[in-house]
Amino acid sequence: ATIHDQTLLRGEGGELHQIAEGDVPVLTTAQGGPVADDQNTLRVGPRGPLVVDDFHFREKVFHFDHERIPERVVHARGYGAHGFFETYESLAAYTKADIFQRPGEKTPTFVRFSTVAGNKGSADLARDVRGFAVKFYTRQGNWDLVGNNIPVFFIQDAIKFPDLIHAAKQDPDRDFPQAQTAHDTFWDFISLTPESMNMVMWIMSDRTIPRSFRFMEGFGVHTFRLVNDKGESTFVKFHWKPKLGLQSVAWNEAVKINGADPDFHRRDLWHAIQGGDFPEWELQVQLFDQEFADRFDFDVLDPTKIIPEEILPPKPIGRLVLDRMPDNFFAETEQVAFMTQNVPPGIDFSNDPLLQGRNFSYLDTQLKRLGSPNFTHLPINAPKCPFAHFQQDGHMAMHNPVGRVNYEPNSFGEGPRESPTRGFRPFAAEEHGIKARLRPESFADHYSQARQFYISQTPPEQRHIAAALTFELSKVETPAIRERTVAHLLNIDETLATTVGQKLGFKAMPKPADAAVPTRQDLEPSPAL
Ligand code: HEM
Repeated sequence: ATIHDQTLLRGEGGELHQIAEGDVPVLTTAQGGPVADDQNTLRVGPRGPLVVDDFHFREKVFHFDHERIPERVVHARGYGAHGFFETYESLAAYTKADIFQRPGEKTPTFVRFSTVAGNKGSADLARDVRGFAVKFYTRQGNWDLVGNNIPVFFIQDAIKFPDLIHAAKQDPDRDFPQAQTAHDTFWDFISLTPESMNMVMWIMSDRTIPRSFRFMEGFGVHTFRLVNDKGESTFVKFHWKPKLGLQSVAWNEAVKINGADPDFHRRDLWHAIQGGDFPEWELQVQLFDQEFADRFDFDVLDPTKIIPEEILPPKPIGRLVLDRMPDNFFAETEQVAFMTQNVPPGIDFSNDPLLQGRNFSYLDTQLKRLGSPNFTHLPINAPKCPFAHFQQDGHMAMHNPVGRVNYEPNSFGEGPRESPTRGFRPFAAEEHGIKARLRPESFADHYSQARQFYISQTPPEQRHIAAALTFELSKVETPAIRERTVAHLLNIDETLATTVGQKLGFKAMPKPADAAVPTRQDLEPSPAL
């Protein structure tokens, strides 16, 4: 029997019952108890009160009541797919990471694309940054490259992240607006945060509204390190380049698509993969050393800066193919837990203060969201290589240490042991300096790269940036915020600033933002004293 042609019985109240027969399984409770009637609660008399010993109803509604988990505090709306990464050539000269040793080696991956500011039910084509998070299930444990579709970021220090996100998401009193609408709080924060100017140029550009996830670039953003088996380190920036090329939609198209189909991007990915049209990206790296880094006026540890690709052309090192949709959205896409601190031996961090702050944040957020320190026991988060440790118990423990011994060292010869040769050893960077809340002078130029990005755009693209800024700032109600923002634009491009100022109806242009405001050192005694 199939579900469609099975026996139907009519109950006393006229309700229909589908009956298990043939190979149709019997409905059970979560405890495995067979269920006789799933249409009616247990009650006293047909029109009487319900009784509390209806364990089937109690369990069913209890479970339903707990179906939702907190949405991600950022990147709440996302869509994921499975695939594989294939290494082109051995990178043994640069890294001992197993994933990069053998040409043709395939590593399973899971990718989640997302928008940052919108809630889980928001629309796909918002003017917003897109997340591009990749989990590689390598033979040395999971490596998470948790990037975005824009190569720079708004802030230089992770301590500003809660402020940035509070300013960008709904205001606490009115609980609007969503990501796609401009508003005072976001532009207030931006206008008081000149380091955001490079990113602002990118998010006001056409880059920000991809035609689909399949036409989107991805970036690891930060400078990372590759470390080889001799312990030598090379700095690296990671880039994903879509094989289909980079394509966006214009703002007026985005607004229409959002209205007609807020699920446009997820629908596109679903149909492409289900139809066998597998999207592909090339992983490219910019490799450099300290001597190369020292040639720039900006700092390679500053996440608001790129290393121009014409100065350091990226080298293709492998490809990512997405070829399978999750069987279940919640189990996989919703429960996947990305963490920047997941790196295998041979890949390491730089001192980028945003990256280091992220390494601290993601573990906390996963515990909050998934509710148990055992979130690595979920199949989507579990490593696909052998693993062995002494962690035990906690909510929903699926595997505990086997045998008597759950500690080391032990003299019973049981359990795993550390490996000085195969284990992760952090790059032995030499560090010194005073302990204080500091920001380096090399992070101080906030306008040069914003200007370079703007002038690299074609005239129609520049017009779109001016139109986006005008539209956004026209929704800002506080005149001082508009003026402060245009004062920054004057330091980026005068024509851009004047166009926006005129369209906003400014009677006079503000003075350019002072790039040399008094420093804290002018006001405070040096922490060294
Ligand atoms: C989530 C990227 C900065 C905290 C995410 C996700 C991406 C991402 C792609 C979504 C992961 C997924 O699809 O599940 C980035 C990039 C950053 C950045 C590229 C800067 C370059 C930060 C900073 C913090 C932070 C500075 C905190 C100090 C979080 C949190 C989540 C998140 C709490 C939610 C994770 C979850 O609940 O699964 N980020 N992020 N991010 N990020 Fe970031």
